[in-house]
Amino acid sequence: MNERDSEAVAAQLVAKGYTLAPSEKNADVILLNTCSVRDFAEKKAIGKMQNLAADVRKNRPEVVLGFLGCMAQSRGRELIDKLPDVDLVLGTQKFHRAAECLDEIITGAREKIVDVAEEENSEATIREHLLNGSAKTSVSAFVSIMQGCNQRCTFCIVPFTRGEERSRTIPDIVAECRELVSRGVKEITLLGQIVTSYGRRGGSGRGTKVESRAPAPLLPSTLDLRPSTIKSPFVQLLDAVHEIDGLERIRFTSPHPKGYGDDLIDAYARLPKLVESAHLPVQSGSDRVLKLMHRGYARKRFLGIIEKLRRAKPDIGITTDIIVGFPGETETDFEETLSLAREVEFDNAYIFKYSQRRDTPAAEMPDQVPQKVREDRNRRLLELVNGIAARKYDAFIGRQVQILVEGPSRKNPARYTGRTRCNRIVLFDGGARHQGRLMDVKITRTGSFTLYGDPAIMNL
Ligand code: 5AD
Repeated sequence: MNERDSEAVAAQLVAKGYTLAPSEKNADVILLNTCSVRDFAEKKAIGKMQNLAADVRKNRPEVVLGFLGCMAQSRGRELIDKLPDVDLVLGTQKFHRAAECLDEIITGAREKIVDVAEEENSEATIREHLLNGSAKTSVSAFVSIMQGCNQRCTFCIVPFTRGEERSRTIPDIVAECRELVSRGVKEITLLGQIVTSYGRRGGSGRGTKVESRAPAPLLPSTLDLRPSTIKSPFVQLLDAVHEIDGLERIRFTSPHPKGYGDDLIDAYARLPKLVESAHLPVQSGSDRVLKLMHRGYARKRFLGIIEKLRRAKPDIGITTDIIVGFPGETETDFEETLSLAREVEFDNAYIFKYSQRRDTPAAEMPDQVPQKVREDRNRRLLELVNGIAARKYDAFIGRQVQILVEGPSRKNPARYTGRTRCNRIVLFDGGARHQGRLMDVKITRTGSFTLYGDPAIMNL
């Protein structure tokens, strides 16, 4: 999400005549887009800005320094008080104002700017793409469909930094996707903090043809009502994007498990371009903790969704996010998370040590878990999920998979990199002729979270 926001800001600046600097050493403007989800991310951004002030700014006082995004939103002017070298602080609804703010600062009209206000329709302003920025981005692109989140999980700062849910309209999103496809994009990832709530609440998506429910068919209840007869706005959006000729693959992130209704499961079965991949943040395996987190589902419901998804698409790649050491999490609660991870066998899991965030209800909850215990649980869970993931990677050896080739590998340009439909990275000895192609490869060996493929065997 943040990469997408940064890309849109860069593209807006390029359209105004700026050029991308090869490194911060020779840039005239350096904007850090920030994340507030955990304290570590904030510390990192502040440390980075301190270094920029000490190195770059000291030698070239004319360089403009700015903070964008979530931390800018939640801390505002406080950031300039703490770091007086900072010229610009722009919140999450103001990314598109970067160019005009820079003009004012560079011309000297204003010395410092802090703008973290709400702005109507800001959800529709993240739309410019830097397709020629790198070879990779021209095959696969991210499209922001909504902003904000109303779920209010007790650990999460996002409702405070990203605001209320606001959705773009289906025609607006489809127009952006069409434009990308006409420029060579083959894969689109629809983005939002809670994409399964797309179109249910405010924003310009309201009052358009997005219907939250198709009219209920007037049939006796004994008849099999196909789940596809009730479609959430998000599934309606998937249907609309799926129609785009030339688009090969659709992904989305992040959904909320409670939004995985039968209509969405059914979409996996119905829509061939919707790839077999789902990131389903579970956060905990304990019902007690899930309740404290205000997640809106229980363990059983989550397991039910996984089962249905795997029934619809047996090869689906399933990844998750898990928080360890949430306030009040006991050893028994944690063991339920371990047992859930064993039961589901995630293809990969991102594990986070609980981090207290300002203004969130969990920060005030009793029984905060000692740091040492958080670290210990993090290590134990990581060991378990990595072991399972490695086994699942090894199971690919000898299999034929379809990949979309994204471009040369960053580490070794003689190798090309692509992704399977289930979102695994595959490296193979390739060349420019493979760029952007959908091709079959045979997996010959595995590395850490990587598959190695041989195209020669399949594409003679
Ligand atoms: N502490 C630790 N992890 C968090 N996440 C969100 N808020 C916190 C927090 N306060 C994790 C969740 C979420 C992911 C993006 O970050 O697992 O899914």
